[in-house]
Amino acid sequence: MQENINNLDVYPEHLITLAKNPKYMGRMNAPDASAFIKGPCGDEMEFYLVINNGVIEDIKFHTSGCIATIVCGSVTAELAIGKSIYDALAVSPKNVMDSLNGLPQDHCHCSILAVSTLYRALADYLLKK
Ligand code: FES
Repeated sequence: MQENINNLDVYPEHLITLAKNPKYMGRMNAPDASAFIKGPCGDEMEFYLVINNGVIEDIKFHTSGCIATIVCGSVTAELAIGKSIYDALAVSPKNVMDSLNGLPQDHCHCSILAVSTLYRALADYLLKK
């Protein structure tokens, strides 16, 4: 769901600020693991991981989605980086929503899309080992 980044009506200011300058947004050429999911709403989410000794050392996400999808990807990456694979599997959509503190209720599914894509990237790594 594309929307104008300057749509200030439904988002708190701190989420607009994060969406304009999200952390960990981008792609990687040679990640250890990656995943892509297209959500039912049509938004796309990608995650890329560099994993060393079972720890997520680098992470990137990319999305074509709305402001909520961008901030959910950014916070999901922030919650996962530096964690072991097994601790990263404990990152939940609720953790993401709590960290964002103000995600509109009708965009809760964006946090599920972001976390699901992280999980799928972790599965990609574990299945390749
Ligand atoms: Fe669909 Fe964000 S509006 S994932």
